[in-house]
Amino acid sequence: MKPLRLGILGSGKGSNCRVILESIRAGSLPARACVVISDVLDAPILEIAREFAVPNAYLPSGKFKTRLEPAAEVELVRMLHEADVELVVLAGFMRVLKSPMLEAFPRRIINIHPSLLPKFPGLEAWKQALAAGESVTGCTVHYVDEKIDHGDIIAQREVQILPNDSAESLHTRIQIAEHALYPEVIARLCREA
Ligand code: GRF
Repeated sequence: MKPLRLGILGSGKGSNCRVILESIRAGSLPARACVVISDVLDAPILEIAREFAVPNAYLPSGKFKTRLEPAAEVELVRMLHEADVELVVLAGFMRVLKSPMLEAFPRRIINIHPSLLPKFPGLEAWKQALAAGESVTGCTVHYVDEKIDHGDIIAQREVQILPNDSAESLHTRIQIAEHALYPEVIARLCREA
């Protein structure tokens, strides 16, 4: 099977990126990481890419806080096309994508979110779940559309909320679930491609 060509985008610590790169290295994910791109110059995710010898780049985002400046988003499309990317994997990318990306990669951009969507889109979803008094939350892999943490759901994994959970302890268990779910889902998409 020809490995699916991935472009991974992230703004932060990159733990999901790390498990994806480890799964590729271990042979359990039939993909190739072609490029890792971050809108944060010193984001650990870029360091992880270098550790795995994956081409990587910083993309200056422009003057907006929650999205890319249109010229930056056009540049992002150019970089992903140049790397011949087939599937764009958001791994903690903190910018909402708009039409340049959505039109260039229709149903070819996926994201992981730390709740059972459609519950608790947005920031710190594990804190939202705790505050709402839920007994179960989890994580969701979904296709990306023009709305935040929205789009067709591909897979979910539940995480129980324990009576003495803190925001930190719950977040840690959700991330463990993410690290199992994301490579599994990408492997499934690779097999279906
Ligand atoms: C993950 O918890 C993911 O659900 C959210 O951003 C976080 C990224 O974490 N979209 P990391 O950078 O992969 O450690």
